[in-house]
Amino acid sequence: MKDNTSLMAAPSAAGMPLDGWDDSRRWTSKRRDFLRILGYGAGAAALGPLAACGSSGAATASEALREQLMKDEAFWTGVQNMFTLKPEKTYMNIGTAGSMPKLVLDVFDTENRKKAADSGNGYSNLLDLRKQVAPGFGVDPDELALSANTSSGMCHAILGIDWKAGDVVVTTNHEHGGGDTPLKIAQDRYGIEVSRIALPVGNKQTAATYVNLFDERIRALKTAGKRVRAMMWSSPTYKTGTMLPIADLMEVVKTHGLISIVDGAHLPGMMAYNYGELGMDFMSGAGHKWQCGPGSTGILIVRNKIRASNPLPLPKWYPVHTSAYPALERTTTSKETYDVAASVTSCGSVHTPMFQALVQACAQWDSIGRKKIETYDLTLASYLKEKITERWGVDALYSPKDDPKLLSALTSFNPFQNKDDVMNAQKSSTFVARMLSDYPQGFVIRNANFSVIGAAADHYGVRVSTHLWHDARDVDLLVDAMWDLSRKM
Ligand SMILES: Cc1ncc(COP(=O)(O)O)c(C=O)c1O
Repeated sequence: MKDNTSLMAAPSAAGMPLDGWDDSRRWTSKRRDFLRILGYGAGAAALGPLAACGSSGAATASEALREQLMKDEAFWTGVQNMFTLKPEKTYMNIGTAGSMPKLVLDVFDTENRKKAADSGNGYSNLLDLRKQVAPGFGVDPDELALSANTSSGMCHAILGIDWKAGDVVVTTNHEHGGGDTPLKIAQDRYGIEVSRIALPVGNKQTAATYVNLFDERIRALKTAGKRVRAMMWSSPTYKTGTMLPIADLMEVVKTHGLISIVDGAHLPGMMAYNYGELGMDFMSGAGHKWQCGPGSTGILIVRNKIRASNPLPLPKWYPVHTSAYPALERTTTSKETYDVAASVTSCGSVHTPMFQALVQACAQWDSIGRKKIETYDLTLASYLKEKITERWGVDALYSPKDDPKLLSALTSFNPFQNKDDVMNAQKSSTFVARMLSDYPQGFVIRNANFSVIGAAADHYGVRVSTHLWHDARDVDLLVDAMWDLSRKM
């Protein structure tokens, strides 16, 4: 199984420290402990799929995905060893918090000490850092701002727009407070109106489902004489992990001449998107989740020139939290008038070591390959979804699995044997707590509540994040434990 080429390529390509990077003992003992505690003896049952992975005759979708995941096992073991995560837990809630790799911690520490030793300040728009990061996201440095986090970026985006009373923003009923809070402020302060689409959940949806819902709602509002001004949505939603399809939704945006605001909290570090090609006006992402930078870091993409991907004029927008205000009308051409990202990034003295550490994390992702990480994360998620489908049935999934446009690395499902138990908040929280306390891997997952069309009450789905420090075995053990717990509860 071991591929020596990728084994050798892993640490240098990713800028990983050489010492201990191939230390797979930690993973081996984790497996061994679990098998012992479950009483599997030699572990034949749990290792069944492993034995099949060398052969080409995968009988099921999950086996085929497992084979794919195991192909580059040595490489990903090297990647796993970039982190300082406690081996006694299995961290599967990256959607809430990532973890800084060792090199990122080193940069954070070294730069903090350098700054202290030299009484340094943070009066900067961090252009040098933005130049290093921007190419990995497919934009120019004037289009990539370093922000405090997703919520901060959403405030910059939404509260900077020149709203007029009666402007309508079309959004969904599965948004996060990070975007909903500035929307509410804009409602109260500027008199905008918010029209929410009820999102269908599960595997029956396709990208066209969501595109049609937005398009139909906008047409209906226009027919009713409303002035629809913007679309705001999460890709993916934090509640069900549904990747609302950005490229397709941008077609709706362009058809109706709207401002486009994407809550992309989970996108940096998970998806290898090219934002210049997607062409949204704003995408606010976290630096501290899947990108594994320090807390209080985020990436805000702001469209600042006319590209083929979005020929609409730039929306009028004012910086709301800044020390840099050039007071210029922005361009109508492919050349920026000014560095709009500087006016988001620069506000008094900023924490330069924190952003230097984020840039180090981005450099590691660029060097591993953002597409490679995306493929791995999504394959792990697809593997998990197939295994959930095999045990619980496809209807247990809140996350779609079959339309590739709707995939993210967040998987949400109903783990309960009695399906209605998912509406019991207490029971769902107990499930999450017991996945940590009752199993030797100490699974860290979460739940989130959301409305389901036609349901009597909110569903409290269980959500699992799969990222670059996991492997197929983590998913196997997780599913076995969740199945075991679901039968006990
Ligand atoms: C969709 C979404 N938006 C915004 C946020 C808030 O993120 P941050 O802490 O980066 O502001 C989250 C956090 O989980 C989220 O899932």
